[in-house]
Amino acid sequence: MRGVWRKAGPAAALAMLVMASGCKKQESAKGPAPKGYGAAVTEVSGGKQAGFVGSVLDQPLVVQVNDAQGNPVAGALVTFAAGGKAEVTPAEGLTGDDGQLTVACQLGGEAGRYRITATTRDKQGKAAALELDEIALGYQENLGRQLNEKYCSRCHNQESTAERVSNYDNLATKPHSFSDGAFYNAMSDADITAMIQYGGAARHQPAEMPSYGGTLNKAEVEALVAYVRAIADPPHRQKGMVYARQ
Ligand code: HEC
Repeated sequence: MRGVWRKAGPAAALAMLVMASGCKKQESAKGPAPKGYGAAVTEVSGGKQAGFVGSVLDQPLVVQVNDAQGNPVAGALVTFAAGGKAEVTPAEGLTGDDGQLTVACQLGGEAGRYRITATTRDKQGKAAALELDEIALGYQENLGRQLNEKYCSRCHNQESTAERVSNYDNLATKPHSFSDGAFYNAMSDADITAMIQYGGAARHQPAEMPSYGGTLNKAEVEALVAYVRAIADPPHRQKGMVYARQ
């Protein structure tokens, strides 16, 4: 039975749970009745993703409800709230046997950061919340993201994907991940631009950093800088890149 539910997806599983419980009242605005209660919500995966404005994020958000001892709690109700017209689907649900709940997130139509809050309650009604930030990229920043995937991430991203094998481990000097705000926020736009245009060797830096002056035009280099600024963690203080309007 569980296998069937899993294949049918969380929404169908939820509907079946409500049906199986045979209680119409549980379909009220309050959502499904919890069968378990936890003391904390933690992130399993899906936070700090960047996507084009208005798009559904590539990865789902997965959260886990734990009891006070840190053990996963099944059947706990998690309610999501999203700022700035982002949307979480489903907006609430019960955790599975592993204590986890998986939802999809669609970004709002304005570039900036969106805060998603996942809340669960213990038996006494005391709330525990988790905040996740997601990043909506405007047109220029999204162009930067695409250029990064094409030219840069094989060295600047440690992780390999199906389409791209990371070259990171082969490099004598490890480049920084572009989301490393602690590092890049201290670099000026001019310095980042020069590094991209002229490469490492011309700047007495590791020659493994190629020069892209002949490959990328000015607008493309600017798009890459905008992308680095947009995904910085901690955030880069820049006009327009604060939280999207609530
Ligand atoms: C072949 C590997 C490789 C590729 C591809 C690559 N880089 Fe680098 N990059 C490096 C290395 C190595 C450094 C030096 C790291 C250091 O000194 O800390 C570096 C340094 C940098 C720096 C200076 C800050 C830092 O991380 O140290 C910037 C900015 C940068 N790269 C941007 C880019 C951009 C943008 C692209 C794509 C257009 C790109 N890189 C592609 C290897 C690469």
